[in-house]
Amino acid sequence: MFDARILGTGSFLPERIVPNTELEEKMDTSDEWIQQRTGIRERRYVEEGVGTSDLGLKASQRALRSAGLTANDIDFIIFATLSPDYNFPGCGCLLQDKLGIGNIGALDVRNQCTGFIYSLSIAHQFVRTGTYQHILVVGAEVHSTGLEMHTRGREVAVIFGDGAGAVVVGKSSNDQRKILSSHLHSEGKFAKKLWIEAPSSIQQPRLTKEMLQQGRHYPRMEGRYVFKHAVDRMQQSVREGLEANNLKLSDVKLLILHQANLRISEAVVRALKISPDRVFNNIQIYGNTTAASIPIALDEATRQGKIGSGDLIVLAAFGSGFTWGATVLKW
Ligand code: COA
Repeated sequence: MFDARILGTGSFLPERIVPNTELEEKMDTSDEWIQQRTGIRERRYVEEGVGTSDLGLKASQRALRSAGLTANDIDFIIFATLSPDYNFPGCGCLLQDKLGIGNIGALDVRNQCTGFIYSLSIAHQFVRTGTYQHILVVGAEVHSTGLEMHTRGREVAVIFGDGAGAVVVGKSSNDQRKILSSHLHSEGKFAKKLWIEAPSSIQQPRLTKEMLQQGRHYPRMEGRYVFKHAVDRMQQSVREGLEANNLKLSDVKLLILHQANLRISEAVVRALKISPDRVFNNIQIYGNTTAASIPIALDEATRQGKIGSGDLIVLAAFGSGFTWGATVLKW
C-alpha cells in the first residue's frame, strides 16, 4: 500500500456577483433575512451557456498548475456534482474531452454536498493500491439555472451559488499533504427532506407540464430538519475522523466544513467547543456551492496561508441523501 497526498489545489468562481439585493427584486425576501439566517451576502452565477464541466475545467487547470503537472499526467478523473451538464453522460467524460487527454477513466459521483468527500476517499483508495498515479478530483456546480426564482422557491433559491474546486491526488513521496482517512455515511430514509423529484424515471413521461407548473423540477428542502441533522452529523464526523487516527480536537489546526449555512458552521463550532477562528468560512461571498464548497475552501485556505506544513486539517460535509462524512489530512 502507498500513501496518498494532495499534490495541488485549484478553484474557479464565475465572475458575475449576485448580491442579496438582486434576489429581493425576484422574490419576497430581504438582504437582512438572508444575512441573518444564512450569513450569505452574495453568490456567483454563471453567464448563459456555461456548464458545470466548464467550471470544473477551469478549477482543474488551476489545480494542475499548483501541482506542477499537465493534463497528460492525469490517469483518472472523479467528478462530483448534483448539477451535471446533462442527465447523461456525466461531467467526468465531458471534462476528459475538454482537457484533451487520452482515454482515461472518468467517474461521476452523485453524493450532493458530500460528493467531494466521497470522491476524495475513492481517489485515496485507488492511489493507495497503486492503481493510478495522478487522479483529478473535481467538485463543481451550476445551481443558478435550476433555482425557482420566485417566492415559492425562496427558502432554497437564496442559499445556492455556482462554482468549482479541484485537487490532484497522487502517490506520496514524503509526509506532506497526506490523506489519513475518510469516513462515509448515508441515511436514505431522509431522501425527500432535500431533493429534486423530477424528471423521474419512475414516471412516464419523466416530466410533464403539470410537474413543471407545480415546480417539482426545483430543489425542495425542509430547512429546519436539514439544519439540525447537518449540525449533528458534521460534528459526529469530525469526532469519528479524529478518533480513527488517535487524534484530539486540540490537534486540529483548521476545520473545513461544507459551506451550507454560516449558522450551521457556528453551531458545529459550539458543539465541538472549539474556537471559531479554527473554522474556515467563505459562504458569505459564494453561498452554498454543494460539492464544490470544500475544494474551493481548501484551495482558498491554502492560498491565504491558513494551512501550513504539518497542520492537521479535517474536512466534513453533510447533504442530501442524507449523506455525510469527513476526511482527515496532515498538511
Ligand atoms: N426570505 C424571507 N423569508 C423566508 C425565506 C427567504 N428567502 N425563506 C423562508 N422564509 C420564511 C419562511 O417561510 C418562514 O416564514 P413563516 O414563519 O411565516 O412560516 C420564516 O422565513 C422562517 O423560516 P424558518 O424555516 O424557520 O427559517 P430558518 O431559520 O430555519 O432558516 C433556512 C431557513 C433555510 C435558512 C435554514 O433552515 C437552513 O439553513 N437550513 C439548512 C439549509 C441547508 O444547509 N441546505 C443544504 C444542506 S447541505
